[in-house]
Amino acid sequence: MPDFAYACKLIDIQDNQILAIDIDETPVALARVEGRIVAFGDVCTHDDGPLAEGEIDGDCVVCPRHGARFNLFTGQATLPAPQPIPIYETRIDGEDIMVQLHQ
Ligand code: FES
Repeated sequence: MPDFAYACKLIDIQDNQILAIDIDETPVALARVEGRIVAFGDVCTHDDGPLAEGEIDGDCVVCPRHGARFNLFTGQATLPAPQPIPIYETRIDGEDIMVQLHQ
C-alpha cells in the first residue's frame, strides 16, 4: 500500500490560501479550494515559478511569474506552461493532512 507522508495541520490552511512545504525534498503546495484540500507540485513547468506564491482562481492556481494556469484537480496547464504539474492524493487523518507523493 502506498505511503502517505505528514504534510501539515488542517488548521494551517484557510480557504483559497496556499501553503508551501517540502516532503522528502520535493516542493509541494497545499491549498483549500471550496473546502477541499488539494496538493500539487510547487514548481511551474514554464520557468520554475513558485506556484504557492500565486493565486487561486476557481479551480486553478495562477503562476505569479507569467500567468500560466494549472487546474488543481487535473494538473492541466495553459500557455506559456508546456506541461501539467503533478497532483498528489491527500488524506485527512484526524487533525493532520497527509500527502501521497508516490503511487
Ligand atoms: S514561470 Fe510560470 S508562467 Fe512562467
